[in-house]
Amino acid sequence: MERTELDFFKIEKFDELESTNEYAKKCSADGTVIVARSQTKGKGRLGRSWDNNPDEALTFSIFLKPDVSPEVTPMITLVSAMAVRAAVGDMAKIKWPNDVVINGKKVVGILTEMAMEDNRIKYVITGIGVNVNVRTFAPELKDKATSLYIETGKKQDMDKLLSDILEHFKKYYDLFLKTCDMSLLMEEYNSTLVNVNERVRIVAADGFSGIARGIDRMGELVVEKENGELVTVRSGEVSVRGIYGYV
Ligand code: BTN
Repeated sequence: MERTELDFFKIEKFDELESTNEYAKKCSADGTVIVARSQTKGKGRLGRSWDNNPDEALTFSIFLKPDVSPEVTPMITLVSAMAVRAAVGDMAKIKWPNDVVINGKKVVGILTEMAMEDNRIKYVITGIGVNVNVRTFAPELKDKATSLYIETGKKQDMDKLLSDILEHFKKYYDLFLKTCDMSLLMEEYNSTLVNVNERVRIVAADGFSGIARGIDRMGELVVEKENGELVTVRSGEVSVRGIYGYV
């Protein structure tokens, strides 16, 4: 294992871990970053798996101990999405709440986990997987997933990408901690939202379609229904689909 520091962050790099999120659960210092060249039991959302070959994806987890109320922690996922999007650049957009997409395909997945102890937050771990130098995806993923290599035709420097993401993360996270909501971030978040002002389908038991109008200060997606009614949709409860496909 190799240890380095970058401002607030204490970075620990491993060749292989089962899952950086799982490993990070043993950490104690705020700002510890666990990076793995490959994961053998990487975790995705909704119980899915997220494995990667060495050096194809940038997979890491940021261990945080914020002094905030637990209800606001889901917004840290949005903060992470903003940080990765900013590091990747203008070709990347955010698909609410926390996927980062390029040309309509997912390039980044984020899994945020939280635990409580004595009514306080024990940790928030935001785990980030960026498809960096993946050259090809399995047929069933080809329409939905992409990588920085596929989109740019260039091999990317993982260390530079990691430090850019962490630098942006710290900037956005500090703004989030000032208000404990997205007030200071929502304008930028909304300016990079892939389906803002477009028709989306809310996939849930009582799903509906409408026009996505962007997030509010709590990070909820505001959707305008056919009758003009504005409905806020909370992340975790639903997923959003464009009318014509993944985005
Ligand atoms: C998703 O399903 O979109 C979320 C994927 C999150 C994957 C990352 S890779 C680094 C971190 N460690 C894990 O085990 N999962 C997250």
